[in-house]
Amino acid sequence: MAIVITNGQIVSSKGIMVKDIRIVGEKIEDIGIDLVAPNDEIIDAKGFFVLPGGIDVHTHFEAEAGGMVADTFTTGTKAALVGGTTTIVDFAEQIKGGTLRRALEEWSKNATDKTYTDYGFHMTISDWNENTSKEMEEMVKEGITSFKMFFAYEDLKVDDGSIYEALKRAKELGTLIGFHCENGDIIDRLRKEAIAKGKLEPVYHMETRPPSLEREAIFRLITIAELADTPIYIVHLSSKEGYDEIIKARKKGMKILAETCPQYLLLDKDCYLSKGKNSFEGAKYVISPPLRDEESKKVLWQGIKDEEIDVVATDHCAFNYKKQKELGKDDFTKIPNGAPGVENRYKLIYTYGVTKNRITIERLVEILSENPAKIFGLYPKKGIIQKGSDADIIIFNPEAKSIIRAENQVQNVDYNLYEGLTQYGKFEYVF
Ligand code: URP
Ligand code: ZN
Ligand code: ZN
Repeated sequence: MAIVITNGQIVSSKGIMVKDIRIVGEKIEDIGIDLVAPNDEIIDAKGFFVLPGGIDVHTHFEAEAGGMVADTFTTGTKAALVGGTTTIVDFAEQIKGGTLRRALEEWSKNATDKTYTDYGFHMTISDWNENTSKEMEEMVKEGITSFKMFFAYEDLKVDDGSIYEALKRAKELGTLIGFHCENGDIIDRLRKEAIAKGKLEPVYHMETRPPSLEREAIFRLITIAELADTPIYIVHLSSKEGYDEIIKARKKGMKILAETCPQYLLLDKDCYLSKGKNSFEGAKYVISPPLRDEESKKVLWQGIKDEEIDVVATDHCAFNYKKQKELGKDDFTKIPNGAPGVENRYKLIYTYGVTKNRITIERLVEILSENPAKIFGLYPKKGIIQKGSDADIIIFNPEAKSIIRAENQVQNVDYNLYEGLTQYGKFEYVF
């Protein structure tokens, strides 16, 4: 017995078609006309979009602060499914002095048999040495397709020489490294200066991480990547300043892939002050990079439309406002960095991208599913609805309307960045 989805508008980056999809087990057995056989279960998708399941390539489940965890792999991937995302790629983090192997084992232990979605890992490199270089090869042989390095955060950042060597190694191995681009050394100094002046409220998180420091780190990365002669992936791009550097390098022919997130497209730095400078509410928006200005939002949307930004992921890194964000009540540098969003990505980008005519539905599928699959080695098993692919399919009713409320969410966290925003769409089915 099969499931046959009929009458729906099947979307890919290339266009829309109305055909039957026949699913057997976990695979798409066929796509065509009149595929229904006796005993098949029929799902009539008339009026709905039939889309490849969303792929969120930037999550941090089980992020810990104050000895507590908000979203686990179980609650986080359940929220992902509710939000139309059927695959996530999380970051397994090497600790300084530790190995990549240890990180992979730890993260696998947290995730194996505990997720609602399919999942994979990027390996975060925080300690570059000969052994790490050897381990990169082992990991690639085992199916890891990507790594990540940081220009910021004391416990994660690496120096420029390490980045150069790691990029050369990535070239040899045919793998990709993603980068968190903010100049961490200068941020450290700016934070110290702010504290010395008694500037302790959440808004100073944003003030001490200006867009020029994202621009500088992106420029430095591009310079290093040019010498190493290998592609790079920039995670959570937030600013016009950073974007402009990417465009300059792309014009020179460099292969630079860029990701942004819904928060940088929909929210801006006023959020830090929405309840007044002395309110702690701004802690909800303490993410790195921080929220930027209106101009950056416009530029990022245009970049998606112009195919200069390849992926929209969430950087879901949930901490409760109570007890976790509150760790920084008297000092913004102690607020854990990160915010939830895995549940909201699909409908937000549909609502504020497609229904506002900023992007087409085809482009939405490309940035939320097809490109992530292509970049991270999942395509065409995932990222497209075609014969032989995994039956990771979402049936999307574009007419439904709702208001985002933390009290209704599945992600296990006590607030939502988009509280009160209207969103369109309903996932009638998620396979
Ligand atoms: O604030 C954020 N983004 N926290 C998660 C870690 C990262 O930088 O991606
Ligand atoms: Zn980051
Ligand atoms: Zn992140």
